[in-house]
Amino acid sequence: MWFKQICTKVKCNINFNQIHRKYSVIASVLEKSNIGELTEVKGWVKNLRVQKDLIFADVSDGSCAKRLQVVIPKHLKTDDLTYGSSVHISGKLSKSPRGQLELTAENVKVYGKCVVLEGYPFNPRTTHPPEYIRQYLHLRPRTNYMSAILRVRNTVTNLIHSYFASKNYIHIHTPILTSNDCEGAGEVFKVQPDNEATVKAMMQKGRNEDSVYFGSKTYLTVSGQLHLEAMCRGMGNVYTLGPTFRAENSRSRLHLSEFYMLEAEIAFCDHIDQLQAFIEDMLKYIFTEIRNKNESDLFLIDKENKIPTWLNKDFVTLTYDEARNILGKKGLDTTEEGINKEQELALVEYCNGVPVFIVRWPKQLKSFYMKDSPEDSSKVDALDLLTPVTGELVGGSLREDDYEKLKSKLPSEALNWYLELRKFGNIPTGGFGLGLERLLQVLCGVSNIKDTLPFPRWPHNCDM
Ligand code: 4AD
Ligand code: MG
Repeated sequence: MWFKQICTKVKCNINFNQIHRKYSVIASVLEKSNIGELTEVKGWVKNLRVQKDLIFADVSDGSCAKRLQVVIPKHLKTDDLTYGSSVHISGKLSKSPRGQLELTAENVKVYGKCVVLEGYPFNPRTTHPPEYIRQYLHLRPRTNYMSAILRVRNTVTNLIHSYFASKNYIHIHTPILTSNDCEGAGEVFKVQPDNEATVKAMMQKGRNEDSVYFGSKTYLTVSGQLHLEAMCRGMGNVYTLGPTFRAENSRSRLHLSEFYMLEAEIAFCDHIDQLQAFIEDMLKYIFTEIRNKNESDLFLIDKENKIPTWLNKDFVTLTYDEARNILGKKGLDTTEEGINKEQELALVEYCNGVPVFIVRWPKQLKSFYMKDSPEDSSKVDALDLLTPVTGELVGGSLREDDYEKLKSKLPSEALNWYLELRKFGNIPTGGFGLGLERLLQVLCGVSNIKDTLPFPRWPHNCDM
């Protein structure tokens, strides 16, 4: 209202009727199923069946897994109306003799033709393998497989926000540019201006090249955890869901250079059990709700996709030492410390496919900020959650809250601000990080992480 008033005063020419779509979204047409209603849809032709007097076109607009069947009288068919073309169709909704909702076209307009022979890489009624589809990142959203995964991704993002809102968590936008390497694993990307003149001008002021712009070495974030910890000691329970970057030299089916991480920091959390209970409850909520909301998408992605058998079971907990013993008995132990990918998946199998928390890790395998285990001073109160498909899905810990202990572990003076959090009104906290793309792999049964986001980045690949 106020906006309209301002617009009238300054005589701007916005037509408010244009703000609302004049056409319908196919998901809502199919849901409401208003027989006899005049309806307009816009989308892409996914399939065409030509009969004597009629043409049947399956039209999709990306809003849902299902397509709308459009019946087109032959006189409305033009040469441009082919598989893959984009169309605007108006007509009346009716039920087919088989009871299926259909739109009988009265007008058909082709926005953009699509000539397969000119190089369109997809064919009708063909299931292209994901590796093939991945070569055409810019055209990938036209495929059932990719569009279904991206709709699941959208719902999962919404579910994460609704879960945290229901528990009164505050959503924080942690920075992408940062001067800390939270995990200390040396996997940061450095950020510098790509402008010689700027660099030259700033160098003259006596700065070194690495820190020429910000005054300190600056990276793309590997984790928002340290910033979340600052927020948590003032705002209580907080979380963030944002882009995260790792310069790992890994081209595996589980690693990306840019991925989305969900991170939460739980205020007054003083036992790792609380962290485990939270993670388990959240995952069971997401896995249950996604079935209610995106069943058809899950079916499009993988016809074999079933409700996980673990959904009504308790997650398993093993200490790191117990896990190593089990691996030893299976003949899978190595002289190397830690748990590698093959071992992670073997442990999940050992637990009959039920997700398993590995807790109480040797200090030297984990990051500086983790709290010493009260049971064993050589260990820290850390957890990894291992699941089918991906192995590690979540990493988390209680945070060292003892000022002196943290001071002795602090990797750099640049983190004095982090230490100072323990000096004034400190509280115990714990938190975790979960890779959104790995969660989608588990949910959808997608073996390669590169198929869970629109534009994957990995070593030697930053297409588009
Ligand atoms: O285990 P990570 O490194 O934990 C942290 O960064 C903590 N600071 C989180 C916290 O406590 N706030 O990473 C968390 C999760 C992993 O379990 C994995 O699911 C995902 O992030 N992840 C990746 N996903 C895709 N590609 C990569 N290169 C990833 N590295 C980690
Ligand atoms: Mg980890």
